Amino acid sequence: MADWDVRELDTADEPSMRRHWELTKAANADRPFDLVWGWETAWATYSGGRKDSDVHVLGAFDGTTMVGSGELQLPLHDNLHLAYSEVFVDPAVTRRGVGSAVLAEVERRVRDAGRDTVVVEVYAPAQGPSPNLEFARAHGYTPALEEGMKALDLAATEDRWDRISEEIAGHHAAYRLVAWRERVPEEVLEGYCRLQEAFNDEAPMGELEVEAEKWDGARVRAREERLARGGLTELAVLAVAADGEAVGLTELARSRHVPWRAMQSGTLVLPGHRGHRLGIALKLANLRSLRQAFPAVSHVFTGNAGNNAAMNAVNDLLGFEPVERCIEVQKRLRSDADGSAADG
Ligand SMILES: CC(C)(COP(=O)(O)OP(=O)(O)OC[C@H]1O[C@@H](n2cnc3c(N)ncnc32)[C@H](O)[C@@H]1OP(=O)(O)O)[C@@H](O)C(=O)NCCC(=O)NCCS
Repeated sequence: MADWDVRELDTADEPSMRRHWELTKAANADRPFDLVWGWETAWATYSGGRKDSDVHVLGAFDGTTMVGSGELQLPLHDNLHLAYSEVFVDPAVTRRGVGSAVLAEVERRVRDAGRDTVVVEVYAPAQGPSPNLEFARAHGYTPALEEGMKALDLAATEDRWDRISEEIAGHHAAYRLVAWRERVPEEVLEGYCRLQEAFNDEAPMGELEVEAEKWDGARVRAREERLARGGLTELAVLAVAADGEAVGLTELARSRHVPWRAMQSGTLVLPGHRGHRLGIALKLANLRSLRQAFPAVSHVFTGNAGNNAAMNAVNDLLGFEPVERCIEVQKRLRSDADGSAADG
């Protein structure tokens, strides 16, 4: 097996980042929908840097040709024990050890950073085996959280919205919904941060060893600046209880560089406030904002755990359809100094 030359790339070097992005696209080309960020978004993020995580990009070379790449993100505000990682290999050269070489270097760097856990998202068909998962398992990664990835065809399902709104109106009348685009309003900034912090404790996390995130106004504003640089518009709706507490949130993002799709991120209603149809009210209000502001968006994508009955019921009602699975796999690295593979 060839000995691949794996080295760190300069995230300010456009040709290197472009090749990394092309490999990302190529390695994801067999998925049912293209959900990779547009090049402009990726480049803006690499070249502009991130304040919430330390990002390293690796390339695997065959001579001067980059045939594989990998990324590691070390969170800086919280979760200081882990790294999120990705590995991509040119489909023309799979099963020749490129992925293994990149992953070994990722793990070496995670250890060097004093961290002991690696988390990777693996995409797999809705049913049946997945070579990506086989690769992960072969390197000692175990599935920690499986989410069903779903797509919502807006034109085909929006005729349901008025009926749903009528049915739920009486249930959430005690709550005020605050909607915005791009910038979290000052009046709900504190509550928004508390909800972001509650997310990892309240959403099903399976076996993932993640801890609560830490959010403050500066982190929110830095994130907004990064999204804006990448051409992303976030739309959000937050629920406020009668006593002024922020108790629910939903967010989705749309890119001006890939205008046909929007990506849903977290939706959360705090435990004491469930059962008032707030989950559906929040999502529906956000979909209406999206449709009005960005009529070119035809599909919204989301992922949620199979055992998250409440969220699944909301998504079914709206008409989301399963398209694939996202399996978050995790590996606890052995702390031995030589950095050898630590499978099992
Ligand atoms: C998964 C991926 C990184 C594998 O890259 P690769 O260079 O082909 O992997 P390697 O050659 O190093 O494979 C190492 C081992 O993984 C396992 N493996 C890799 N591909 C496999 C497949 N298609 N079926 C079954 N096992 C597989 C095997 O045990 C293999 O060893 P072997 O070839 O000696 O049997 C590549 O296919 C890819 O980019 N996929 C899309 C993105 C992704 O899912 N990344 C990884 C997430 S952990």
